[in-house]
Amino acid sequence: MFVKAFAPASIGNVICGFDVLGMAVKAPGDLVEVDFNDSSDILIRGISGDQGKLPRETMKNTAGVAVSALAKHLGDERGIDITVHKQMPLGSGLGSSAASAVGAVVAANELLGNKLSKADLMPFVVEAERIACGAGHADNVAPSLLGGITLIRSYDPLDVIQLPSPDNVFVALVHPDVELMTKDARNVLPTELPISKSVEQMGHIAAFVHAVHTNDHQLLGKSLVDVLAEPYRAPLIPHFEQVKKSALYTGALAFGISGSGPSMFALVTGKVQAEQVGEIMVKTLERAEVDCQLYVSKVNDKGAEIVD
Ligand code: HSE
Repeated sequence: MFVKAFAPASIGNVICGFDVLGMAVKAPGDLVEVDFNDSSDILIRGISGDQGKLPRETMKNTAGVAVSALAKHLGDERGIDITVHKQMPLGSGLGSSAASAVGAVVAANELLGNKLSKADLMPFVVEAERIACGAGHADNVAPSLLGGITLIRSYDPLDVIQLPSPDNVFVALVHPDVELMTKDARNVLPTELPISKSVEQMGHIAAFVHAVHTNDHQLLGKSLVDVLAEPYRAPLIPHFEQVKKSALYTGALAFGISGSGPSMFALVTGKVQAEQVGEIMVKTLERAEVDCQLYVSKVNDKGAEIVD
């Protein structure tokens, strides 16, 4: 009985909420298939779209780690084959490792009798993220799994809150063809933050939560500011300042790094305007001879799902 799941890409941090805010998009996303095998082992049967870069060893692969943790929790010793179809680049800031883990665990949960809710699957995908990135940040796995905009109120114990998605807000997401591993982008961050910067960032994140609840696009734009990671990570991203300037000038509400980069995104009121902002972002990168891909969509409120 073969089961397939789709898990969307996600934007970690959503600019103002380092490691605590995340947002799912409609595309791109990974497809993961699972099926029982004749052994008692959980195996990575195949991976497409990764140019051979991802580990095939179960306990080094995010999909393998997540499914193993789920099977252990359920006390189910049946063997499972996992096949991952990567449909987004690695080291992109699009939550690539999270999407494979989420797709795998959603498919495996269905295969094993649909015993757990999506929210119950969270600990298994956080564990997988810890293996992939060296840090168990949950701001990609939570939105990819649950959909919408998610807030990690607490990591210990894990407590995820789903926030409303503002009406008529679109995401223009651009991925420059450069690889930046999350581990490396975390290593450039300072280990301590001055109180004055913490105060500034707390104001922004609190205002963001108010803005999504009241659908206040102006406030949303004002609150999407990052004094914590962006100043350190922007130099790692090709032409970040120029792309930001062009997006804001074309009418974006806000602009920032997607997760740990190098992808960048703008939030824009209205679909047509979002497409225009996206095109300007692409043109700015192309003028600097950087190839890129553009994705424009609304927030994905569904998250991961079983597909035919
Ligand atoms: N919160 C993580 C980081 C997201 O910024 O390192 C990684 O995509």
